[in-house]
Amino acid sequence: MGANAGVRKARSESELREPTDFGQGSYVEAQVLVTNSCNLKCSHCFVFRDDNPNSPRDKMDDATMLHQLRRLRDKHGIRSMLFVGGEPMIRKELVLKAMKLFEKCSIVTNGTYGIPSVPGHGVTVSLDGPEGPNDAIRGEGVFQKVKQAIFERDPADGTSVIVQMVLTKQNEAHLEAFVEEVKDWPISGLAFTFYVPTRDDQSPLVWHDLGERDRVVERLIALKRSYPGLIKSHIGALEMMMSEVCMDSIGENGGKCQLRKALPLYMGEKSSFERTFCCYGNDVDCPRCGSYMVFNQAYHLAQGNEGHLPITGGRI
Ligand SMILES: C[S@@+](CC[C@H](N)C(=O)[O-])C[C@H]1O[C@@H](n2cnc3c(N)ncnc32)[C@H](O)[C@@H]1O
Ligand code: SF4
Ligand code: SF4
Repeated sequence: MGANAGVRKARSESELREPTDFGQGSYVEAQVLVTNSCNLKCSHCFVFRDDNPNSPRDKMDDATMLHQLRRLRDKHGIRSMLFVGGEPMIRKELVLKAMKLFEKCSIVTNGTYGIPSVPGHGVTVSLDGPEGPNDAIRGEGVFQKVKQAIFERDPADGTSVIVQMVLTKQNEAHLEAFVEEVKDWPISGLAFTFYVPTRDDQSPLVWHDLGERDRVVERLIALKRSYPGLIKSHIGALEMMMSEVCMDSIGENGGKCQLRKALPLYMGEKSSFERTFCCYGNDVDCPRCGSYMVFNQAYHLAQGNEGHLPITGGRI
């Protein structure tokens, strides 16, 4: 083997594929699925639904993704990026490099690869209840693994770590027990969001009607009153989620949804990004959408806080 045979020459920028044309719009914020791969198979996950670009393999190499993210940032004025997947920590080195391109970043992770240290940025760690209910959704042994990772990290490293639970009809009974379980953990807070179903979704995850979901929202509001510092939800935003008023923030076909102002970057064919209807994918049932961020953003707008970032700054 010759001396240079194993050395791959770095490609110049001009050799890298240019990003998909997403028009001339301005997007202060975007979300990128850095990989379609995931080591878990959660029962509620929107990523692996039939209608989404989600073939379970990486389709874009690191250099191409960094190049395209830089180009999209410059074209659309993207300041803030949310790194998701699949499981983004499967491509940790890429994520750490890509974070340097944006002013404000957050990573959403299942926590099974450890919690990344990203001073000045945010990490959202997903857990969907106490050990038994969480593992019924996320897989056997996941709760203890994630708990260990949270306790092993340096809590003074400057990373804001938030634990997030997605409430569904399947796990709502364990809401209060979950808060009791994690309330003394070394984290910056606890976030809640609700299930986003597909249009024909009649799975055990969905409430029969939004009135049933209202009872869970009310329980969350009561918890917020008891733990105002821990729980990162605004009572005003949760009130906007109630069945009688939720469509005011959503609009027909999601026409008023503020999350649609962010650019969702899914991995499409041949090293190019593809955008979906919203960050939850293509087949979504807006009238039953439980995304807290939708209502939190509407809440901030109603407060006159126009510059609030929908996703990365949306929880707090
Ligand atoms: C798709 S995951 C990707 C990041 C990482 N794999 C994780 O689980 O955190 C991002 C977040 O979306 C949540 N999520 C998945 N499916 C959902 C759905 N149908 N409705 C609402 N949230 C959902 C997950 O629980 C997780 O908190
Ligand atoms: S860990 Fe995240 S991406 Fe993977 S299946 Fe669960 S929710 Fe989906
Ligand atoms: S599903 Fe939710 S986040 Fe997506 S467009 Fe509809 S209301 Fe907005």
